[in-house]
Amino acid sequence: MTARDALDAAIPALSAAGCETPRLDAELLIADALSVDRAVLHTAPDQAIEGAHARVIAERVRRRVAREPVAYILGRRGFRRIELLVDSRVLIPRPETELLVEVALDLPPGSRVHDVGTGSGAVALALLDERPDLVVSASDASEAALEVARMNAARLGLPLELSLGLGVPPGEYDLVLANLPYVREDEWAGLAPEITKYEPREALVSGADGLDAIRALVCGAPPGTRLALEHAPGQAAEVRSLLRDARTLEDLAGHERVTVGSAP
Ligand SMILES: C[S@@+](CC[C@H](N)C(=O)[O-])C[C@H]1O[C@@H](n2cnc3c(N)ncnc32)[C@H](O)[C@@H]1O
Repeated sequence: MTARDALDAAIPALSAAGCETPRLDAELLIADALSVDRAVLHTAPDQAIEGAHARVIAERVRRRVAREPVAYILGRRGFRRIELLVDSRVLIPRPETELLVEVALDLPPGSRVHDVGTGSGAVALALLDERPDLVVSASDASEAALEVARMNAARLGLPLELSLGLGVPPGEYDLVLANLPYVREDEWAGLAPEITKYEPREALVSGADGLDAIRALVCGAPPGTRLALEHAPGQAAEVRSLLRDARTLEDLAGHERVTVGSAP
């Protein structure tokens, strides 16, 4: 089998399974299995693939055909300048969440930032990577997610203080960042199988209007706490109404995505 053969077999299989980007997915899975850059699949398409690698590719394609996300199959995901290890214990970090990191980039040196619902540690670790002068801590309601965040902090060599718990832990913070669950209960069944079959439901769904976790966070935060909250575009007005001096920022797609304000 050659690289071209592997692509020619994988792409139609992934397409038939309903994957949205079958060529890209096949290239990522095959290139990683061969430990080569994706471009090599095109510059050296006749490169022979030996048996052990062919078996790894077949197994990866089988998992992707079952709609497992590429990030879980590869076990990692890029986020801003860092790479995070991810598995089914944590949500796969999304590109729109990078906006939450940007909100904190202009803070004065030495500011204290806390990331609530850190999952893989994406937001807190990307921030520490870009602003090592900040004092960054993070927490999550899930011990399983914290294990992944701890592993990522150690692997990246970043000094992230992690704790288990709901909402904002006791302490003094200049800014609290949170990408908490915000999917409505009635939306769940209609989401892509990549999400409903593989990602942790409790990391995504939060009550009838999707705002239970955000409301609880705002209510539990000491008055005056500065908060930056990620939400769905249709939730922006409701989130603004929970905060004082609120303003909403748009993500790269032009959707209202992060609201910044103070706890009343
Ligand atoms: C949408 S995921 C976001 C993960 C990560 N911040 C990211 O952006 O990739 C939400 C995370 O919040 C955690 N979580 C849910 N409710 C919470 C709460 N009330 N307090 C703290 N963490 C919570 C979940 O366990 C999950 O890891």
